[in-house]
Amino acid sequence: MEHYKIEGGHPLRGKVTISGAKNAAVAIIPAVILCNSACRLENIPNIEDVAILRNILSSLGAEVDFSDNVFTANPVTIHTNEALSEDMTKLRASYYLLGALLGRYGYAKIAYPGGCAIGERPIDLHIKGLSRLGAVIDFDKANGIITAKAHTLVGAEIYLDKASVGATINIMLAASCAEGTTEIHNAAKEPHVVDVANFLNMCGARIKGAGTDTIRIVGVGRGNLHGCSYAIIPDQIEAGTFMIAAAATGGEVVIKNIIPAHLEAITAKLMEAGVSVDPAIEGNDYILNVASTMRPRPLRIETCTYPGFPTDLQQPMMAFLSTARGESIIIDKIFTERFNHVNELNKMGANMRVLGNGKAEIIGVESLHGADIYATDLRAGAALIIAALMAKGETRVYNLHYTDRGYENLEEKLKALGARIKRVN
Ligand code: UD1
Repeated sequence: MEHYKIEGGHPLRGKVTISGAKNAAVAIIPAVILCNSACRLENIPNIEDVAILRNILSSLGAEVDFSDNVFTANPVTIHTNEALSEDMTKLRASYYLLGALLGRYGYAKIAYPGGCAIGERPIDLHIKGLSRLGAVIDFDKANGIITAKAHTLVGAEIYLDKASVGATINIMLAASCAEGTTEIHNAAKEPHVVDVANFLNMCGARIKGAGTDTIRIVGVGRGNLHGCSYAIIPDQIEAGTFMIAAAATGGEVVIKNIIPAHLEAITAKLMEAGVSVDPAIEGNDYILNVASTMRPRPLRIETCTYPGFPTDLQQPMMAFLSTARGESIIIDKIFTERFNHVNELNKMGANMRVLGNGKAEIIGVESLHGADIYATDLRAGAALIIAALMAKGETRVYNLHYTDRGYENLEEKLKALGARIKRVN
């Protein structure tokens, strides 16, 4: 079975350039459907989730091309508003087809989205929001199909019980093409929410307040958004993953192509653990120099919506803290069951335990050792690879399709930093 063979114990050293943000790309690509002319998207990461979305857009009839991180799509040739292929079930972000097709055509029929198994992932808030805009939504649970219809979408006040990233973006997509004004209260503030809003505004949408709790969208009506050229932001989570990997291996890595403000939570926690994180400017760009020479101090981390500590970095951080000098506590109330990596890390000599209700404890051990371990989801995969880089001896990490979904050129980037990693078929 395909796996990464990793010989651990070699500190990462050198420079790494962060790719475009996965979670922005997977929202902006479906958002192209709302436009009445072609879009050119730059800095799109070459990852499996993008390849799947490309297939989905193509199956709807859009003319699509993707090379050298530039994604071009002409939605004018779209001939169906039903996205029912198996591809839809391969990723979470396929839920954006619902808001995009509904906004553009007033009708959408989509297969229920898939994505990482990290516990309950309901989409009731997406449905509630789109219903508030006037859509009639039908769930065919037996066949896993969602249908949404609206003669006209009409702006509305929408309060989200939880600041859901997906629901905020999905509502933003549909509301951009509604009649009248929508206000989303308790909106998600993640960097990719802002990026999607910026993209839509470039296409002629009228969105204000993205990045705050309240987003105000003055709908411009169906078919009135136009294509544009847009470069997406760097990936906050990939940058955080490399920062953790640098610290975890006792190395020194310069992280390039970043937005430092997006990395404040991870920077603060790494510094609290004793890692040095120094911002600098190189040419016109911000960089971060991350260095560590010692076992980390233990931490207490609670995941939170942005600007809090991201749940997507909770798993890599647990790998890092496995060798801390004391006991760490991790609380993930966003995805309370996101702990499938714990068993695998324990196979490597870690001493961690899931306490329930989104809480886990880590008793730091002196070092990890090599083992055969299996990724269970995207960020668990990143955590296991970091652990393998830290460990003494050889580790085989299986289920690479998870990390392929979200990390561009992971093997090459790690190799360039001196990691002994090889993909074995
Ligand atoms: C997005 C990200 C994912 C990240 C997560 C949290 C994408 C494609 N994925 O996932 O990487 O881990 O944000 O930052 O951008 N919830 C509901 N009802 C809903 C929607 C969500 O109860 O309708 C709950 C979820 O169970 C979870 C919380 O709200 O507890 C946040 O989820 P949400 O922000 O929606 O996550 P995703 O959009 O699935």
